[in-house]
Amino acid sequence: MSLPLNSNDYGMGLGGLSRMAEGRSFWPNFFSGIVARRQWNPMAIDLAPDARAWPGLPDERRRRLTTLLAGFRVAEDAVSEELTPFADVMGQDRSMWSDETLLAWVLFLQRRDEDRHTQFFDRVAEEVLRLPGATPEERRAAAREHVPPAVLELFEVRLPALAAELAAGRAELSEGIGLYHMVLEGIVFDAGQHALLDDLQDGALPGIREGVERVELDERWHIGFGLRCLIEARPSPELLEDVLAQAEEAASAWGDAVPAATRERTAHKAARRLSVVHLIHEHVAA
Ligand SMILES: [Fe+2]
Ligand SMILES: [Fe+2]
Repeated sequence: MSLPLNSNDYGMGLGGLSRMAEGRSFWPNFFSGIVARRQWNPMAIDLAPDARAWPGLPDERRRRLTTLLAGFRVAEDAVSEELTPFADVMGQDRSMWSDETLLAWVLFLQRRDEDRHTQFFDRVAEEVLRLPGATPEERRAAAREHVPPAVLELFEVRLPALAAELAAGRAELSEGIGLYHMVLEGIVFDAGQHALLDDLQDGALPGIREGVERVELDERWHIGFGLRCLIEARPSPELLEDVLAQAEEAASAWGDAVPAATRERTAHKAARRLSVVHLIHEHVAA
């Protein structure tokens, strides 16, 4: 199977990675440039029309949207919290990175995006879903009640466990990036965002749609950045096989909140991304 290196799907889906896949120099600068063009304020999005429309939506639609939006409320918080050990480990290995200061800066920018995403979904939880709780922590606790167990397991058990192993020097950086950027952002977030954007195409909740569109654009460069780090880290074939197996499983973490066709499409994305940058053979992604 031949993969279109410059198609919108792969180019944009990799955070523009295809345009710099061959070059090794100054690549953290590339991501820094993307971020500079994509600033947005989660507090400035108007959610008042969404809050007015929400009670009038059919019960089944509200149930599905609540699962996804509560899931993002919990999961964005988790990825924001667990990013720190990645920056520490990357900064330590001078043989792998030509400019660790710049790399730490890119991770800082990613962390800032994740905080912004958490703020946005916390506003949605408070102002539209009207989840109980006077503080972000209380609303996160309330949101957990609506999140599928498989999503909670990935973000609240597996991610913190692997981040702790990474911090203790007992796990490889590639393993961490495989789970964080390839599986959680590249599969679980990707599936959830596309399910939300497809559902909200009718303009029923315009503020939420605008916010999710912006989050999805940010996540594209995070995935592209993770993939670029994987190229540098030179993971073993066994580790990559493990990432693909996790990705396959993670595509169904949302259960029926994500339509079957979207789950199916998303399940193959990790293989396609790894194939585009030649970390796996194309026939594996076919
Ligand atoms: Fe995020
Ligand atoms: Fe992210």
